[in-house]
Amino acid sequence: MVETGNKQVHMRNPSGSDETLTVTDNRTGKSYQLPITDGTVKSMDLRRIKIDDDDFGLMTYDPAYTNTAECRSTITYIDGDKGILEHRGIPIEQLCEHSTCLEVAYLLIVGHLPTENELGAWVDEITHHTYVHENLKAFMQGFRYDAHPMGMLLASVGALSTFYPGAKNIDDPEQRHMAAVRLIAKMPTLAAFAHRHNQGLPYVYPDNRLNYTGNFLSMLFKIGESTFEPDPRLERALEVLFILHADHEQNCSTAAVRGVGSSRVDPYSAVAAGVAALYGPLHGGANEEVLKMLRRIGSVENIPGFLQEVKNKSEKLMGFGHRVYKNYDPRARIIKQHVDGVLEVKGKSPLLHIATELEKRALDDEYFSSRKLYPNVDFYSGIIYEAFGMPSEMFTVIFAVARTSGWVAQWLEMVNDSEQKIARPRQIYTGAREENYVPIADR
Ligand code: CMC
Repeated sequence: MVETGNKQVHMRNPSGSDETLTVTDNRTGKSYQLPITDGTVKSMDLRRIKIDDDDFGLMTYDPAYTNTAECRSTITYIDGDKGILEHRGIPIEQLCEHSTCLEVAYLLIVGHLPTENELGAWVDEITHHTYVHENLKAFMQGFRYDAHPMGMLLASVGALSTFYPGAKNIDDPEQRHMAAVRLIAKMPTLAAFAHRHNQGLPYVYPDNRLNYTGNFLSMLFKIGESTFEPDPRLERALEVLFILHADHEQNCSTAAVRGVGSSRVDPYSAVAAGVAALYGPLHGGANEEVLKMLRRIGSVENIPGFLQEVKNKSEKLMGFGHRVYKNYDPRARIIKQHVDGVLEVKGKSPLLHIATELEKRALDDEYFSSRKLYPNVDFYSGIIYEAFGMPSEMFTVIFAVARTSGWVAQWLEMVNDSEQKIARPRQIYTGAREENYVPIADR
């Protein structure tokens, strides 16, 4: 900070740019020039703005981080107004058309598209780490028959840290790499075991002949047959769903992974925090809620009444709205294109008609358009998952499997970022001060 006169305080811009913001503190009459870097001012620069030397200095107040950049990232770009989503600069539409989910995982984690050899080695490594320790299987068998599979996934991912204690050494690049491989490889196995447990069916071990999504379908649905041959159309649809859910920059669960990981805990525990955050109905749990909502609506005639309840705020239109997208979520558009393909294989869904009609009427309604509420990724994904034969409790679990590569990529970026420290927000204390303890008999 450089004093340039009685009432002007300049702060140096580390980026070398000369963009600044002038702020006048009307309490003292002092003006401050804050450097602007990448369209942001540093919250810590405000700390210098004080009434006197004893003052703590100004803070920003931003509940739910609606206007705070928490990190620099090169992984995912979103333009919420234009409905753009890119990973490492490549549009999601191109990735969904040409890529596979393991190639996208490599892209997110390593930072570029792999060569043929790099991809072959990566896929081989993931494929050969899909098995879990038998004691982990026994651990999952200990859950009640009706345990929610997301709770089982949350616990079992956390439990992985006890099987790989070396992962605590997060400064070792080899340990970081192995944790990344193991998380991506084992998540479908844990997810499928959770499903089989709910169904009262024997757990199915991974089949290394199959690709990532084919193997997942086999572990979920194989019954009796000696080999399971997944329908290539379903395999591809699941591949696209996995790509669409792979990463979405600083969403609630990714922020949880980064926040918990900033304590330098092992990555399995950090990812377990991400699974917990995703479980919530406002985040990954929304796809399960969409199906419940569509079932509650029951028929097209009931849509106007339901929309009126949403406007009265006694209902929420699940699968609509997004903190960042104020335009059609590009992921929803791609999913919608795949709904028909899956239903062609699996048969019609009575809920699809209600969903398309609900979407149409909501988009035509001033209440939703004025608030820029459009379908998000979760509006149609549940219909596809249901067509696959998944119970609705599994929808968020599938989201978690897909999001693992993004969580891992974001965690790796965070631990390698020299600007990061343990996440520790401030508060505005509004409670009582200097009260006296009252003995219980006198209260
Ligand atoms: N149905 C009805 N009204 C809504 C909805 C909705 N789904 N979403 C937002 N609004 C209204 C909200 O009531 C508010 O109205 P008003 O101005 O009258 O108070 C206005 O729109 C602004 O909403 P907000 O709550 O300030 O928006 P937000 O950015 O805090 O919330 C959200 C984003 C995703 C939590 C919210 O839109 C929501 O709850 N949607 C339903 C749940 C859902 O589909 N979640 C999945 C999100 S995408 C996948 C993921 O990230 O996991």
